[in-house]
Amino acid sequence: MYQPASGGDYAGNGFHSPHQIGDGGVGGGVARGTRRRRGGRGRPRLRDGGISTGSGGHSNNNYNSSRSRVSNSYGAHHTQDNDDGSGPDSPPPPPPCTDFDMAYFNSYAHVGIHEEMIKDRARTETYRNAIMQHQSQIAGKVVVDVGCGTGILSIFCAQAGAKRVYAVDASYIAVQANEVIKANNLSDTIIVLHGRVEDVEIDEEVDVIISEWMGYMLLYESMLGSVIRARDRWLRPGGLILPSNATLYMAPVTHPDRYAESIDFWRNVYGIDMSAIMPLAKQCAFEEPSVETITGENVLTWPHVVKHVDCHTVTIQELESISTRFKFQSMMRAPLHGFAFWFDVEFNGPAPFPSQSDMSSSLMASSNGHATDSSQRKKRPNPNEALVLSTAPEDPPTHWQQTLIYFYDPIDVVQDQLIEGSLVLSQSKENARFMNIHLEYSSGGRSFVKESVMR
Ligand SMILES: C[S@@+](CC[C@H](N)C(=O)[O-])C[C@H]1O[C@@H](n2cnc3c(N)ncnc32)[C@H](O)[C@@H]1O
Repeated sequence: MYQPASGGDYAGNGFHSPHQIGDGGVGGGVARGTRRRRGGRGRPRLRDGGISTGSGGHSNNNYNSSRSRVSNSYGAHHTQDNDDGSGPDSPPPPPPCTDFDMAYFNSYAHVGIHEEMIKDRARTETYRNAIMQHQSQIAGKVVVDVGCGTGILSIFCAQAGAKRVYAVDASYIAVQANEVIKANNLSDTIIVLHGRVEDVEIDEEVDVIISEWMGYMLLYESMLGSVIRARDRWLRPGGLILPSNATLYMAPVTHPDRYAESIDFWRNVYGIDMSAIMPLAKQCAFEEPSVETITGENVLTWPHVVKHVDCHTVTIQELESISTRFKFQSMMRAPLHGFAFWFDVEFNGPAPFPSQSDMSSSLMASSNGHATDSSQRKKRPNPNEALVLSTAPEDPPTHWQQTLIYFYDPIDVVQDQLIEGSLVLSQSKENARFMNIHLEYSSGGRSFVKESVMR
């Protein structure tokens, strides 16, 4: 485990490492690497244990540049002095950096997570293409990379001609980013700030925000809130945010193989009837959301838009709880095993989401020609042909895969049968990076409720 220099300015080229968090390690971080999922690593996930108890320092060392400095970056009980002349229109003080947050940042200190993300070519190449596509808005401009990780997106922006890039990351991976940036002779352009976006200070307006903030089911990790804070603190009016929009989808799925592998398996184990274990097997396999890869063949209908986010206008409050009602009409006869979730993000300028009338006029018809749900469509319309990074089952796989919420028992549906209900996704009060999922669904006259937590 890399041990960064504790405290003080680092390397004298814009990098500042104000503290140490515990002894590092991936521990129980929330993000993509430690999530339990079917196969492979993944983005970290806050689960049990591994929570760093190190509260970090409370150093308030100034960064040695006139342009920016790191302020009190961590502290489990961080408070912001708000009587410094800030008026009623000032942005609210940043939320405290909790032990959960520190475990989250620790989880991103492990190189494996970054390796996996960088090797996800669909992800990394789409970002690079988007940066190059927006070169005219980046060249000569000031950029903030929210959660720079290894610095890869900052470097792409520097290659696109950015005048200055603030590469911000609260994880110790920022130390490595700084080394990479130095080794590529980009220290004059890219300033690494080791601290939370909520805490570091940048003393100028920025033209562009770039960030790869998407978690499983889009909103898991709750990193979008940090992008919103960066936007509200530094982005000049009319500035560019990449990605600009994001959409979370859901659809009913059939997955007999998965059910057979995890549940039916117990019916006959070396000739022994172990079906008594099946209730436990169902609970263990299906209690929590499962990150795994499905294909378009598992999906029973067009998806429903759970949430569309315009990164220029979305608010932190809006993300605390998201509700939607859905109504699907199965396109085939099949056992319904649950719902799959996936997302896409667009790299575009600020663009209004289509109004409800636009949505209705471009409805996808169901198999019997009747529209079911105004937000049920294969994909959001993309009139500007914006670059899209999609994690849909029919698109090339990404490290996000899809997220599945399985039922404990399948429901047999016939063609055109309605599957309807509601969904609430809310940030956990225990840890805002956890996601509470309240799902109500009914079909064929039977109704169910499923509560789960993605932790
Ligand atoms: C998904 S990784 C992306 C890394 C890199 N941008 C890339 O594309 O490979 C997200 C990074 O954001 C950092 N991060 C998340 N929230 C942050 C915050 N509030 N302040 C600073 N860094 C943050 C994490 O530590 C992590 O390194």
